[in-house]
Amino acid sequence: MYADRVLSGMRPTGSLHLGHYHGVLKNWIKLQHEYECLFFVADWHALTTHYDNPRGIEEATWQMVIDWLAAGVDPAKATLFIQSQVIEHAELHLLLSMMTPLGWLERVPTYKDQQEKLSEKDLSTYGFLGYPLLQSADILIYRANQVPVGEDQVPHIEFSREIARRFNHLYGKEAGYEEKAEAAVKKLGGKKAKLYNELRTRYQQAGDEGALESAKALLGETQNLSLGDKERLYGYLEGGGKMILTEPEALLTVASKMPGLDGQKMSKSYHNTISLREDPEAVTKKIRTMPTDPARGRRTDPGEPDRCPVWPLHEVYSGDDVKAWVRQGCTTAGIGCIECKQPVIDAVLKELAPIQERARALTEDPDTVKNVIADGCEKARDLARETMRDVREAMGLNYG
Ligand code: TRP
Ligand code: SF4
Repeated sequence: MYADRVLSGMRPTGSLHLGHYHGVLKNWIKLQHEYECLFFVADWHALTTHYDNPRGIEEATWQMVIDWLAAGVDPAKATLFIQSQVIEHAELHLLLSMMTPLGWLERVPTYKDQQEKLSEKDLSTYGFLGYPLLQSADILIYRANQVPVGEDQVPHIEFSREIARRFNHLYGKEAGYEEKAEAAVKKLGGKKAKLYNELRTRYQQAGDEGALESAKALLGETQNLSLGDKERLYGYLEGGGKMILTEPEALLTVASKMPGLDGQKMSKSYHNTISLREDPEAVTKKIRTMPTDPARGRRTDPGEPDRCPVWPLHEVYSGDDVKAWVRQGCTTAGIGCIECKQPVIDAVLKELAPIQERARALTEDPDTVKNVIADGCEKARDLARETMRDVREAMGLNYG
């Protein structure tokens, strides 16, 4: 129950580019071997900024799932689903909205930033303000404890932690909570109960984090407690109630910033991307026509790789030998720019070939893609329902 579970979501932006591949997908593909992973299409999130034009979201979703699979996200290892197809996210979002202070939402840094950035849109909506809370519901509903995100999303994870803490604090205390916790301590047995109490006191009175960890380890090893009692004792350690929702952590991706065709980060808004489905001729042309060090006006003028947008691509794709060849050839005008770009072109084409082959096969076989998602949605729904049962019970909404 306290094993690591990873969850991450992506807005449906249609077909993906090399920036997504190097920045996100490669990391997901690695994580799927190491953890239980859930990856989903955040289609409701797309509505928070595209409510005026929701057509297209569905098609973008399917195309993005094809790219995930083509890139190597493996449905036998990870659960893939679509947010709007697991409606429990909406129920948790609604219930959490009741206890979310407005100030917390207004203080999330992306709120004002994005409003300013997308100033042509009216984003003074209820949905846009609540977007970080929807993200919290996405995470908390799976009790995911590790969330791989980029730097910009870290405040959202922090926000989710605060929401989980507030929820547990407000609703985690059942009637007779203290008595039930004390009874559960007794069930640990003499020695263990004594140790638990000592560690709990050391943590609560002296803030001793080591004692907290030891107490958690002690509970982790304990076999003879019911799940309910175990949760009660985890909560009792930190002074709160039962841990109904799990506080997630940001699993920071070592920011591999894929350079675009102009030396800036690759991003759709900079129009400097190579899409994963870009055909080989277009890839070749895009790289051939990339700007280079302006000092190399003529073939005979020497240049400096550090001033050239092609160089960061060599850093991604080329080995030390090729990089040495570039430095030497560029600074002495020994090679031309077209020559210099060829190894990058070759490497990109080699990387894309198997992805494009799989994408082609999947495009011709939409049933396979639909089945992967149907399976994933079903698995996700089972997990989400389990949490919602506990949430409703904690809030007194069980009507059983
Ligand atoms: N907000 C994320 C983005 O815009 C997408 C997202 C939605 C997400 N819900 C999530 C990411 C939950 C991680 C976990 O990129
Ligand atoms: Fe850039 Fe290569 Fe031309 Fe030098 S030789 S300016 S690194 S493209």
